[in-house]
Amino acid sequence: MPPSGVKIVGVGHNAPAHVVSNHDLEQWLETSDEWITTRTGMKRRHWVGDDEATSDLALAAAQAALRNAALVPADIDCFIVCTVTPDYYFPATACLVAARLGAKDRPAFDISIACSGFIYGLTVASGLVRSGVYRRIMLIGAETLSKILNKEDRSTAILFGDGAGAVVLESCEEDSFLSAELGSDAAKPELLYVEASGSRHPIDHAALEEKANLIHMQGREVFKSAVTKMIDCTDKALAKAHLTKADVTFLIPHQANKRIIDAAAHYLDMPDEKVVTNIAEYGNTSAASIPIALSEAVQRGSIKPGDVIVFVAFGGGLSWGAVTWRWAA
Ligand code: ACO
Repeated sequence: MPPSGVKIVGVGHNAPAHVVSNHDLEQWLETSDEWITTRTGMKRRHWVGDDEATSDLALAAAQAALRNAALVPADIDCFIVCTVTPDYYFPATACLVAARLGAKDRPAFDISIACSGFIYGLTVASGLVRSGVYRRIMLIGAETLSKILNKEDRSTAILFGDGAGAVVLESCEEDSFLSAELGSDAAKPELLYVEASGSRHPIDHAALEEKANLIHMQGREVFKSAVTKMIDCTDKALAKAHLTKADVTFLIPHQANKRIIDAAAHYLDMPDEKVVTNIAEYGNTSAASIPIALSEAVQRGSIKPGDVIVFVAFGGGLSWGAVTWRWAA
């Protein structure tokens, strides 16, 4: 019988060199460091330059994860990139990353589910490994949200950053994947969306004029749903894994807003020391935020074999999900 478990054997992350502080934003927006810090917990975010794209960040994160796993590209059987800011409509960003790594002829595809991307990706990739389809998968969350930001809109321009995080998943005897709880509801896509650029509303002059090709969000509505859904799907994922909140060593939430994280952590009885946050440094990097936070936590030596981790996210779709995971040696 082939092994039917999965574990993470390597992590890596990358962010563009250019840092935009809250004080930088004050230069052209009617906002303040004080407002942004108290309302979001963000102090800085990283934005790519004009000549950088999502696959550049994804590639660097993947290379870091390979180094961390002591593997080479040829060891990877499949590449998945979770992103809503791909280099192109097609080819998939994962194809570009695999090609640039020299992993010839390997399967590669993208997952597009906004800030929930890494949770959906981890569920899909774990399923492929656990069912024996692939032995090793490179799973990357990578975004250049600054490219679809209306930099004049203070309600969104302050929130989003660019970055990438990667994990290498490998088949093994003991299973790290304990459960997943995923969901979506597009009853009101306009709560958080890019209206123009797809087939519903291709980009035309009017769209550019109205900046309909950039992110629009009704922040207050999204905030309320985010807290409720992150709590609910964490509870359900824990129940599916026959775990209680007390069994959780670390909560690694999507870094949307420190107040969302704090509210969810409060209801989930997670004290600060169990909650991994890096929102002050990166802002909201959508599908990249959880793998970046995980990579940093592993590099700090915070995560030990046997630790139970809950990964949880909420974002555009609306979409949400939680995965429970036991860290393996
Ligand atoms: N600086 C100063 N004032 C501001 C700013 C700013 N950057 N932005 C908004 N304001 C003002 C508003 O105009 C408003 O003023 P008014 O009372 O005079 O009308 C006031 O501040 C309050 O605005 P709210 O939108 O109610 O502020 P809120 O406390 O809700 O914070 C925020 C806004 C940070 C956007 C919050 O709603 C939020 O984090 N929402 C959720 C974001 C999220 O989770 N997104 C999901 C993931 S993203 C993805 O999937 C791609």
